[in-house]
Amino acid sequence: MASFPRRVKAALHRAADRERVRRDAPPHTSHEDLLRWARQHLASTRLIVVSNREPYSHLRTEQGVRWTRNPGGLTVALDSVVSALRGVWVAHGSGSADRQRSDPSGRVQVPPERPAYTLRRLWLTREDQQLYYSGFSNGALWPLCHIAYVRPRFARPEWERYLDVNRRFAEAALEEAGDGPALLLLQDYHLACCARFVKERRPDLPCILFWHIPWPNPEVLRRLPWRAEILDGLLANDVLGLHVRQHALNFLDSVADALEARVDRERMAVERAGHRTWVRHFPIGVNAAEIAALADSAATDAAVRRLREEHALGEGQIGVGVDRLDYTKGIPERLDAVERLLEKHPRWRGRFTFIQIGVPSRVELPEYREVVRQVEAKAARINRLHGRGDRKAVLLRIGHHDFRDIVPFYRMADLCAVTSLHDGMNLVAKEYVAAKTDLQGTLVLSPFTGASRELERALIATPYDVDGLAEALHQALVMPESERIARMSALRDAVFRSNIFDWAMGLMDTAQRLMLRSHGAEVTPAPH
Ligand code: G6P
Repeated sequence: MASFPRRVKAALHRAADRERVRRDAPPHTSHEDLLRWARQHLASTRLIVVSNREPYSHLRTEQGVRWTRNPGGLTVALDSVVSALRGVWVAHGSGSADRQRSDPSGRVQVPPERPAYTLRRLWLTREDQQLYYSGFSNGALWPLCHIAYVRPRFARPEWERYLDVNRRFAEAALEEAGDGPALLLLQDYHLACCARFVKERRPDLPCILFWHIPWPNPEVLRRLPWRAEILDGLLANDVLGLHVRQHALNFLDSVADALEARVDRERMAVERAGHRTWVRHFPIGVNAAEIAALADSAATDAAVRRLREEHALGEGQIGVGVDRLDYTKGIPERLDAVERLLEKHPRWRGRFTFIQIGVPSRVELPEYREVVRQVEAKAARINRLHGRGDRKAVLLRIGHHDFRDIVPFYRMADLCAVTSLHDGMNLVAKEYVAAKTDLQGTLVLSPFTGASRELERALIATPYDVDGLAEALHQALVMPESERIARMSALRDAVFRSNIFDWAMGLMDTAQRLMLRSHGAEVTPAPH
C-alpha cells in the first residue's frame, strides 16, 4: 500500500475497526437464519430450483474428468440456498462428462466436494440447444429485454422448440416433486412457459419465477409475435419476481396492453381466469460474508503478490472489470474510456493498468463473437499507444475462471468498472464491494444496472459519455482517502444488508404469505 499521511492512516484504522465490529455482529441475514426459516416453513416441502444453466458441470479433460462450479452470478448465488435447504436442482446437463457422472435418470449429488443436494440433469440435443437456447432465449428474448441495440430475431421453429423444452423441464420438475408438497423456484427467461405446463398436471404446486433480466415496456414487447403466450406462461406462476420495481411495473403494463386480465397496480397483482399472480421486486445479492473471508485469506494474499510480480504492476494503480463477454456489458465503451483517461491524464501512463477479465459466452451467436473481436482490438490498440515497457495499460484475461481466482483481482483493484448498457442487477458490483474488506477501492457504476438502485454511494457514470466515464475513472484514482473509505463503508453496509440469504428468504417468505392471501387466509400484509 502506498504511504499515507498519519491522519489518513488513523482514519483507515478507525474504519477497519468499525469493519471488524461489523463482522462480529453483522447486520445481515445469515446462512443460519435461512436454515432456521426453512426448517420452520419448508419442513415437509421439497424445494425444487429449475434453471437452464447447471450449478456444476463435469468436464472431460486430458487428466480425466474434473468438475467446475458455474461462475454465473445466478448459480453461484442459488447454490448455497439449495444446499442449505437440501433441495433439488433441475438444469440442462451441458458438461462433456455430465452423463458419465450422473445416474441413468440424470441425477448426481452436488456440490461435488461436499454433497448436499440432488442435481437432476436434463439432456438436450444439439438442435434443442440451437433452437431453444441460442435461438429463442438468446437471439430473441435477451436482446428484446435489454436496451443494447442488437435487434431480436424471431423464428417460429425456435419458439416451438422453446415451448417443447419448457415442457420437458416441467416434466422433470414434476418427477422430482412426486406426489408430495413442493415449492418450485423457476429461474429466468429460458423458462417463461414452464409453470404453465407444471400447473396443467399439478395446479396445487406453488410456482415462483424469478426473472433475472430487465422487463421491457409494452411498446418494446409488442414486437414479440408470441408475447401473449409468454405473458400467459408467466402468469401461471403464483409469484413473479424481478430485481427492480420499474421492471415489475413494466410487466404489469405489458399484461394490461396484451391480455384480458385484471391488473391491480395498487397491490401489484394480476388476476386472470381465476388465478392470481403477485408481481414483486426482490433485489438479489451475493454471499458477502463468504467473499469477504476469501478476500482476507492467505491464499488471496499470495495470489495478489504473484499477480503483481507476474504482470510488472509494481506499486501502480489498478482497475478491474469482470464480465461475461456480452454486448450488454458495455466493455468496448469502458475500454474507450480507459483510452481517453490515458490521453487526457498522461500521468497515468505506466502508472495505471486496467485488467479486464472476460468470460467467453454464447459464442454460437455472431454478436457475441463480435464483442470478443472488438475488445481484443481495443486492448491491443491501447497497449500500442500507452503501454510502458513490461507494463501494459490494459491486461486482457479471456477465459473461464474459478471464482476463487477472481477474488485476488478484486482485492488488488483500486477501482472496479461496471459499465453495463442495461443489466437486471449486476452481481460483479456487489462482489467487488464485498471483497474490499480494507475499504480501499472505488466502484464506478452504470446507472443502467439494477445494482445502482441500492449502491448509491458508487461513482455513477453513464457508459454513453466516454469523456464522463474517463473522468469518473480519474476521480476514482485521485479520490481522497476519507471519501473513499466513507463511500466503501456505505456500499458495504448495503451489500451485507441485502445479501443472497436475505434475497432467498425474502422471496420465499413473501411468496408464502402472498399465496396464503390468495387463498383467503388472514395474514400480516407482506411488505412491497
Ligand atoms: C445472465 C442470465 C442467467 C445466465 C447467465 C449466464 O446472468 O440472467 O440466466 O445463466 O447470464 O449466461 P449463460 O447463457 O452462459 O447461461
